[in-house]
Amino acid sequence: MTESLTVRDNRTGQEYDVPIADGAIKAADLGKIKAADDAPGLAVYDPGFVNTASCRSSVTYIDGDKGILEYRGYPIEQLAEGSTFLEVAYLLIHGSLPSKVEYEQWVHDITYHTFVHENVKGFMEGFRYDAHPMGMLMASVGALSTFYPEAGMIQDAENRQMQIVRMIAKMPTLGAWSFRHAQGKPFVYPDNDLSYTANFLSMLFKMSESKYEADERLVKALDTLFILHADHEQNCSTNAVRSVGSSQVDPYSAVAAGIGALYGPLHGGANEAVLRMLRRIGSKENIPAFIKGVKDGNERLMGFGHRVYKNYDPRAKIIKKACDDVFEVTGVNPLLEIALELEKIALEDEYFVKRKLYPNVDFYSGLIYEAFQFPPEMFTVLFAIGRTPGWLAQWLELTQDKEQKIARPKQLYMGDRGLDFTPREQRWA
Ligand SMILES: CC(C)(COP(=O)(O)OP(=O)(O)OC[C@H]1O[C@@H](n2cnc3c(N)ncnc32)[C@H](O)[C@@H]1OP(=O)(O)O)[C@@H](O)C(=O)NCCC(=O)NCCS
Repeated sequence: MTESLTVRDNRTGQEYDVPIADGAIKAADLGKIKAADDAPGLAVYDPGFVNTASCRSSVTYIDGDKGILEYRGYPIEQLAEGSTFLEVAYLLIHGSLPSKVEYEQWVHDITYHTFVHENVKGFMEGFRYDAHPMGMLMASVGALSTFYPEAGMIQDAENRQMQIVRMIAKMPTLGAWSFRHAQGKPFVYPDNDLSYTANFLSMLFKMSESKYEADERLVKALDTLFILHADHEQNCSTNAVRSVGSSQVDPYSAVAAGIGALYGPLHGGANEAVLRMLRRIGSKENIPAFIKGVKDGNERLMGFGHRVYKNYDPRAKIIKKACDDVFEVTGVNPLLEIALELEKIALEDEYFVKRKLYPNVDFYSGLIYEAFQFPPEMFTVLFAIGRTPGWLAQWLELTQDKEQKIARPKQLYMGDRGLDFTPREQRWA
């Protein structure tokens, strides 16, 4: 089989052989196709990069039709079951699972970088009383670049690792403090006796007790949620990290851009919309009328459907299981009953079956977060903490990829050309 594509340009009658490698052609090869020698080369128009690969990556594999998600080749189900978030973070960053010594060193390093400079605290205290925690997180991660000016030396491997450890370590501190600020509560310093996720819960919820130790089942459930969110290949925020990182800026600035992307409702906000929807439906009896409205095109069943997954999102299955563990501690969220019934009906209904609409990661995650008593504004902050190792693994890959260039998409120019400027006095006369 010849691994190439023959293209005939009907404008000129000329044929071109375009090589195919790894299931793709190079857009630059299409650029050689021209209507005339001095005409611009053929471009590919692809808003939203729907069918354009921007990089080669070995971090995360997704098969949306089969519902497969793997980090560095390991199925998400196995990692969620048997691993910890920090082990998964190591796997994403280093490409392989750690030995015992490597794991202990990694956990130690992350644990001892959880504190932030006192001026970061002052900076965060300066936000308006009702500042959105995601806006605070984005700004404070960006601000870290000014505390570690050496972070800009991205060609230095040791320096890169240092910033990666710092960022994974400090993210829960910044996330928890963003939450406390909105509540008018004092910031809680990290407790390095606790695990990564237990310490995060302590910084969120500790009051006057000398030590805050959350129920182990809750710690495990949140740790699992972090694992499920740790990477998802070239999504909007990862693309933002890579795009900004391609200018060779420091990783704090690149990750701050990723947080900005995640802040948007089309990316990180669907689980909040699911809760609003469940609350509006109110009880099981109202489900048929609601489903009819969805099928009539009046609205969408939030938490269903995915750009990539045309099968059950593997993360949704794991979260559904985690719901049981969390509700055992917190009591059942009454909205769960509606969610389960909605899922049952939708999975049997031809409208959803035909369109391959299955529950996605957001269908159940909001219910769990609510059981932890997180306000909806915190949902994306939790997502960001989980996604940080993925952003950094992708950034690391970018910094070492010789094929990468500064991101600079083409445009198809549709505007005017060569107009004559008329000075203001004449235009306004
Ligand atoms: C995630 C999402 C944006 C993916 O969209 P997409 O890949 O661009 O799919 P499309 O919008 O082209 O939808 C394809 C068809 O399924 C329908 N559809 C998609 N998601 C739907 C949903 N949640 N409820 C009802 N119908 C839906 C569309 O109306 C369309 O039907 P049509 O072919 O009759 O016009 C979309 O499924 C959605 O809006 N889901 C709800 C929001 C959500 O849960 N987002 C979180 C994603 S992790």
